[in-house]
Amino acid sequence: MKIGIDRLSFYTSNYYVDLKTLAEARSVDPNKFYTGIGQEKMGIPPPDEDVVTLGASAAYQLKQDGLLDDVELLLFATESGIDQSKAAGIYVHGLLEMPSRCRTLELKQACYSGTAGLQMAIGFIARNPDKKALVIAADIARYELGSPGEATQGCGAVAMLISANPALIAIDDESGYYTEDVMDFWRPNYRSEALVDGKYSTMVYIHALLESWKQYAELSGRELTDFDRFCYHIPFTKMAEKAHQKLVRKLKLDLSKEELRALLDESLSYSRITGNCYAGSMYVGLTSLLDTAEEDLAGKRIGLYSYGSGCVAEFFSGVVQPGYRDFLYADQHRNLLEDRNELSYQQYEDIFNYGVPTDGGEYIFPQYKTGPFRFSGISQHKREYESLVD
Ligand code: CAA
Repeated sequence: MKIGIDRLSFYTSNYYVDLKTLAEARSVDPNKFYTGIGQEKMGIPPPDEDVVTLGASAAYQLKQDGLLDDVELLLFATESGIDQSKAAGIYVHGLLEMPSRCRTLELKQACYSGTAGLQMAIGFIARNPDKKALVIAADIARYELGSPGEATQGCGAVAMLISANPALIAIDDESGYYTEDVMDFWRPNYRSEALVDGKYSTMVYIHALLESWKQYAELSGRELTDFDRFCYHIPFTKMAEKAHQKLVRKLKLDLSKEELRALLDESLSYSRITGNCYAGSMYVGLTSLLDTAEEDLAGKRIGLYSYGSGCVAEFFSGVVQPGYRDFLYADQHRNLLEDRNELSYQQYEDIFNYGVPTDGGEYIFPQYKTGPFRFSGISQHKREYESLVD
């Protein structure tokens, strides 16, 4: 039985900063961002968006298509959690009015948890082939103002419906995975911005790739040339390109710039203009690939590399299914990305500093442009959400 991703829906904030605006404010050459790290814009969530609204907005498309009725497992992957106890997925479950017969929980392991969710959901479907699972990976990438990581901020969410006989991509059985206790990127509970040892994190990302690939290749018997495209975890698009080049060199293969672009470029286009969204990042890449590839990818095998600092990594793969184009939300994604509002530097800094109040007071948040749901305020220590749709 084939199991995999039946639908993929993506959502990001309606606001962004062009990195030339940031470059000007930081007195650096914009090409350091545009070319050096391969990023053009970063998505900025207004005060009334959080991972719940990002995730619920991503999944709303599935709700509208009547696809959530058989979902009995809801996994919410994030490292931007809003509560130490209650799972963010339960708020989403409520906003989407999902059936009460549902297991719901939150998963955390930096940017890897979306893949943990996908693999756990596949296990669930193997046992319950007539049911569905919803995996939501949503995050807000936030670093200190003026820090090296600042230009790699971003936000977004991907909602994946997992089923038997999936419409989009069937996930292969083999996986190479790797855990090592390292401090390359972390966020203590008392901080709202991540701490990162930037250069070290890029080295661990690549080391974990080589280790997980080695296992995957041994288990599957496949070679790098058996893949038609690759999707990498994308903290910034240059990272994915560098990682693939390292893997190719390690295997003593040759790859021209044009060949590299053909293997990766379509998967990088959404991230280049939205930024990192941690747990969802590789799946934003997969959505971008399926939505934008001019070539019909049916029957093609995609290599997938997921990396979560700290660290856990996994190399796995999937095969694109015949007729997949009829089940994409490419038009909705294009409209969302084209209709966003650009922020000035001052607007960005004001939103960044707004933060979420932590003094236990009563708050009503200003209304910005959001998707179907917004984080409207806090009352009696409870986050309040508003649905803007019937
Ligand atoms: N024109 C063109 N290129 C330029 C340039 C210019 N004017 N100025 C600089 N560059 C190039 C540099 O040569 C460099 O390229 P190479 O790496 O090929 O040498 C690139 O731009 C970046 O410049 P720096 O190395 O000087 O950049 P930095 O040190 O200020 O920041 C970073 C880079 C450390 C990765 C930083 O962005 C960072 O800390 N990011 C957050 C951490 C991160 O994303 N890590 C990735 C792996 S961990 C992970 O994947 C998990 C996760 O999601 C966070």
